[in-house]
Amino acid sequence: MPLPVVTPMTVDDLDAIMALERVCFKDPWTRRMYLADLTQNEIATYLAVRLPTIVPAARRSGPVDCGLWIPEAAQSEIRNLQSAIVAYGGFWLMADEAHIATIASHPDWRGCGLGLYLMLALLDVAQANGARLSTLEVRAGNLPAQHLYEKLGYEIAGRRRRYYRDGEDGLIMTTPPLAEPRMQMRLAVARTDASRRLERCFGETKDQRPKTKGM
Ligand SMILES: CC(C)(COP(=O)(O)OP(=O)(O)OC[C@H]1O[C@@H](n2cnc3c(N)ncnc32)[C@H](O)[C@@H]1OP(=O)(O)O)[C@@H](O)C(=O)NCCC(=O)NCCS
Repeated sequence: MPLPVVTPMTVDDLDAIMALERVCFKDPWTRRMYLADLTQNEIATYLAVRLPTIVPAARRSGPVDCGLWIPEAAQSEIRNLQSAIVAYGGFWLMADEAHIATIASHPDWRGCGLGLYLMLALLDVAQANGARLSTLEVRAGNLPAQHLYEKLGYEIAGRRRRYYRDGEDGLIMTTPPLAEPRMQMRLAVARTDASRRLERCFGETKDQRPKTKGM
């Protein structure tokens, strides 16, 4: 059964990204910011996590012979997006530092491992492109994100007073060198955790399939 896949974000994804951006952030980035990063910023890399198959509306009451069954409640929202993007994020590679620029997952699918999965993919791509460590800024009150980063080995390295437009402080978080054995070990544990969560939420089980006659 196919699980969500990570692919590069493209300009064609921007309608879907902007729809998610508006529900995920208090202070959303503009389309122009993403467009500039995707088309003009050589140090920027953005990835999107997609559901491999969306069950078309016309087939909802019929047999599902392939793909992923999406709970009824989530279908209309996902269909409204241009493509089935359920998480996205990016980093800027500044010398040997991968600075996580943004990351978000669809509110209906939080806790399913998408955040971990995507962060691991970003760190993999960053490392393959020469990153030695990773940094980021996070709102002081954003505990879910801080917990996610801590699971991946990020530690608080400083605080920027009133860093955000609404006056909230920002925490600077940084990883140890990515190649260090303790960091590699942590990433391996996170990988296992992400796979387990994704399988639980997105893997095919009888209960997640629609009940149809003759099946
Ligand atoms: C932060 C975010 C990306 C996490 O995504 P997710 O898909 O739910 O993450 P996962 O399912 O992979 O969860 C992994 C870990 O994240 C942390 N986490 C996720 N949701 C959490 C919550 N509501 N409370 C506390 N920790 C949470 C936990 O450490 C969790 O592991 P655990 O359950 O073993 O403790 C998501 O909440 C989000 O999009 N938030 C809005 C945008 C945002 O704040 N982005 C970060 C900007 S710096």
